[in-house]
Amino acid sequence: MKKSLLIAAATMLLTPAAAMAERSGEEVYNTKCAVCHVAGVAGAPKFGDAAAWAPRAEKGIDALLATAITGINAMPPKGTCMDCSDTELKVAIEYMLDAAK
Ligand code: HEC
Repeated sequence: MKKSLLIAAATMLLTPAAAMAERSGEEVYNTKCAVCHVAGVAGAPKFGDAAAWAPRAEKGIDALLATAITGINAMPPKGTCMDCSDTELKVAIEYMLDAAK
């Protein structure tokens, strides 16, 4: 009993924070993506800019996630969020897509 509690505690300590709780799209966007996407740095589609996002949205979320992971032109791989899971990147993209509707 006591031993299994200790093992549980040790496992929690050894698990990286990112694996324990996924960040929200808003959180990932604000900490990692806003840097470029808020003002449209280097041709990034601007946050809340429907005209800039519409042609991207047409590709579908799976295609956008795929390009976000590999990077495209001035967009760095994973948008510089190297510790982001695919799910975290996906919700961040959805957050930007929703804001540009
Ligand atoms: C260093 C600047 C920079 C950062 C940081 C950045 N982006 Fe981008 N992003 C860009 C640029 C530039 C483009 C436009 C690339 C192009 O189409 O030429 C882009 C395009 C995109 C696209 C459209 C891809 C497509 O297939 O049309 C998505 C989706 C995207 N970014 C998601 C993200 C997410 C999610 C983050 C944060 C995790 C992020 N970006 C962080 C610069 C950035």
